[in-house]
Amino acid sequence: MKIAIGCDHGGIVLKPAILEFLDKKGISYEDLGTYTTDSVDYPVYAKKVADAVASGAFEKGILLCGTGIGMSIAANKVKGIRAAVLSDEFSAAACSAHNDANVLCLGGRVLSPEKAVKLVDLWLTTPFEGSRHVRRLGLIADMEK
Ligand code: RB5
Repeated sequence: MKIAIGCDHGGIVLKPAILEFLDKKGISYEDLGTYTTDSVDYPVYAKKVADAVASGAFEKGILLCGTGIGMSIAANKVKGIRAAVLSDEFSAAACSAHNDANVLCLGGRVLSPEKAVKLVDLWLTTPFEGSRHVRRLGLIADMEK
């Protein structure tokens, strides 16, 4: 699996721990920036990661901003993206099991790096349940036509 990761200045605090976790798990990734704490516009990075996932070059994406909210709003504008913003374990598992979320959005001003890693782990290791959820995702995809 290959993951595209992007952040703004509000989310960059979570990035080192997440990259360390991905390294430890042997999961390959590409860091699409930003790389410093200088103020940047989160939609720029949301688009980079969402386009990278929608193109098929990457299977999943991770987006980090202050709350995760702006990144999720922006990423969900890209066709084929199912971006989930969350801060609890139940939702991290459910967004894979029920929503097959292909982008995870987390907030650097909401979560500790340790909690963020836990949520990434749950999201990556929980399988999509398929069945009735396929129909529901199909209804969402119809809205993109
Ligand atoms: C940047 O100050 C902040 O607005 C951004 O990181 C994010 O929280 C937006 O949703």
